[in-house]
Amino acid sequence: MQRIAVLTSGGDGPGMNAAIRAVVRSADARRVESYGVHRGFEGLIDGRMSFLTARSVSGILHLGGTMLGSARSERFRTVEGRAEAIRQLEAHQIEGLIVIGGDGSFRGADALSRESGVAVVGIPGTIDNDLSGCDFTLGFDTAVNTALEAIDRIRDTAASHQRAFFIEVMGRASGWIALCSAIAGGATEVLVPERPTDIDELQRRIHEAFNMGKQYCLVIVAEGDDAGGAFEVARRCGEGLAGLSHRVTTLGHVQRGGAPSMRDRILAARLGDAAVTALLDGEDRVMVGEIHRELVHTPLEQTWTTVHRTPPELLDLMDRLAR
Ligand code: F6P
Repeated sequence: MQRIAVLTSGGDGPGMNAAIRAVVRSADARRVESYGVHRGFEGLIDGRMSFLTARSVSGILHLGGTMLGSARSERFRTVEGRAEAIRQLEAHQIEGLIVIGGDGSFRGADALSRESGVAVVGIPGTIDNDLSGCDFTLGFDTAVNTALEAIDRIRDTAASHQRAFFIEVMGRASGWIALCSAIAGGATEVLVPERPTDIDELQRRIHEAFNMGKQYCLVIVAEGDDAGGAFEVARRCGEGLAGLSHRVTTLGHVQRGGAPSMRDRILAARLGDAAVTALLDGEDRVMVGEIHRELVHTPLEQTWTTVHRTPPELLDLMDRLAR
């Protein structure tokens, strides 16, 4: 294989730049040329690619976002869109494509590979940590640390005013960010999409927390919880919280930005290098990931068909420690 391309797709996340750097430098070290595709699959369809050298990726390791840009491409969901993307890859003589993204990006990448002769390898890049085939996705560690910093600050003011706070974190279909930031942040309650929320029970537990002598109550709500986001949960708790002062904070996209943590930088370095190795070894339609610190390859399709659920034992742990 003499020429590969790399793109970032879907929601961006800290560590994507570090992964692009690792891909380009790892390929360069093996005398393989790299192209960067701008704005994900959308840019691939339009042939927006540039030649990248080891120097093109200098000074990006510590930066959030993605130097290549990203997109959620509707056109790429169609056979016609993918056919145009394949034409572009052929025109640029690209034999292997590395896709850094989440499940939606991998579905597209899988289809592209099946419809073309181009080999595809995925790197799990999403703050949601919702892909099977890895312990942690790129960006998750940084996102949880960002959420934690905010939660720690909110605790200060919550304790001063003896308030309950409903804090919404990202995670449309996954409670990983909510659960990990709740345990690490010493929250009182966590609401995740993986477990049905009982509003009456939640009200009871919030009152119980204050009755037990707690000075504040932090309820971490995953945005995709079945009871709704933090504002909706607070609204539904409404009257049941009479006598208790409460506020709502939505952390939103701050969780997607910022410098990657040490863990995300190391993960990016390992996975970027492993993705190039996989392509050179003739692998196709696999995702590279780390499980128990070992590098593993998982068929792309399996990364979204097998759900990477939040472990029930961590939910139980959260409940035990919050009392
Ligand atoms: O997939 C990552 C993610 O940040 C989710 O947690 C969130 O629901 C979604 O992306 C937000 O997407 P967008 O930036 O397109 O609004």
